[in-house]
Amino acid sequence: MSKLRQWGNQLYAWLDQRVDLQSFKALARKKEVPVHRHTIWYYLGGMTLFLFVVQITTGILLLFYYRPTAEEAFESVQFLMAEVQFGWLVRSIHSWSANLMIFTLFIHLFSVLLMKAYRPPRELTWFTGVGLLGLALAFGFTGYLLPWNELAYFATRVGTEILGVVPLAGDFLLRVARGGTDVTGATLTRFYAIHVAVLPASALVLLGLHLYLVQKLGMSVPPGIERHGGGGRTMPFVPNFLLRDLVGWLTALAILAALAAYLPAELGEKADPFAPAPAGIKPEWYFMFMFQTLKYLPAHILGLEGEMVGIMAFGLAGVFLLLVPILDRRTARGEPSKLFTWITIAVVVYILVLTYLGYTANPTS
Ligand code: HEM
Repeated sequence: MSKLRQWGNQLYAWLDQRVDLQSFKALARKKEVPVHRHTIWYYLGGMTLFLFVVQITTGILLLFYYRPTAEEAFESVQFLMAEVQFGWLVRSIHSWSANLMIFTLFIHLFSVLLMKAYRPPRELTWFTGVGLLGLALAFGFTGYLLPWNELAYFATRVGTEILGVVPLAGDFLLRVARGGTDVTGATLTRFYAIHVAVLPASALVLLGLHLYLVQKLGMSVPPGIERHGGGGRTMPFVPNFLLRDLVGWLTALAILAALAAYLPAELGEKADPFAPAPAGIKPEWYFMFMFQTLKYLPAHILGLEGEMVGIMAFGLAGVFLLLVPILDRRTARGEPSKLFTWITIAVVVYILVLTYLGYTANPTS
């Protein structure tokens, strides 16, 4: 044991001479997390990060067996589920963790909005966050098609059709997304390249920036708490906050394992482009509110195609979300900003109601 400790100390001294480990230690010792009644929300970013790491790890394992062609994709996933030791577990965890990650990401986003953590000097943290949200949704959309099953095939047809409605660039966007005029093996190969190379590389860059900024600027205290003289108390990040983070991650892992074991990812039938579209095509739950909104729109609004107006409205909402730190002038000046709090609450209620309607109003259409 003492020999082991001696080796450990020697290794530490060796590395310290070369990469100055002391400075990392000093950095870790300096990092503090504010303690107040909303501290719990600070765990959501770390939880999202943990699930992202699960995605990268299980995704790499899936790559050992997956084949990105229309002829072999479905069969390779079938083989993975039935024949490969623990293949079903890895795929099921990848699928559940993707959903859980988007869920925690949404909570992280809305808690950051309500705590006004986007106010100066954290605008860049916010911008990189919105970029990560876009990437996470793109991960979900491209990953859905990869097993090349019936439901995914037709959902992708509908999803990419929506791109075609975009004014002026619609036709071009549709062809770029599909790699042709229809969803074919070319679309699959394209989605695969985006899912396993373009998105992970972009996410790592944006995530690196996001975490660097969080580290550089420290955690913010919500303005409401600051105004009432709170937020002065802190706890050390290492070990107090990190150990609490770890408890959360282990709990998430246990939930993932239970979900994967009891509700393994399904595969269904192989996609057949010539078969009629099956009933009940629906997007992933996080796209449901948009899908349902488009269904409710009349065919024409002010002489324009209803769907086109809907898509443009969602596009504008995305730009609005990105620009929140610039548009919310009152918060930037340190004044209370009820308007943005109410907009956030209205958006959350809208998303919840439309998602609920999406699953209940027309369950088979
Ligand atoms: C893959 C996606 C993301 C990951 C892994 C991630 C990770 C993190 C982590 C670990 C923190 C520090 C702890 C915390 O506040 O929870 C953080 C803070 C922050 N995140 Fe994210 N985040 C992601 C997406 C987003 C999104 C979508 C937004 C908003 C558009 C956002 C905005 C922020 C802001 C403003 C902070 C600073 C909070 C403060 O100082 O109080 N992040 N993020």
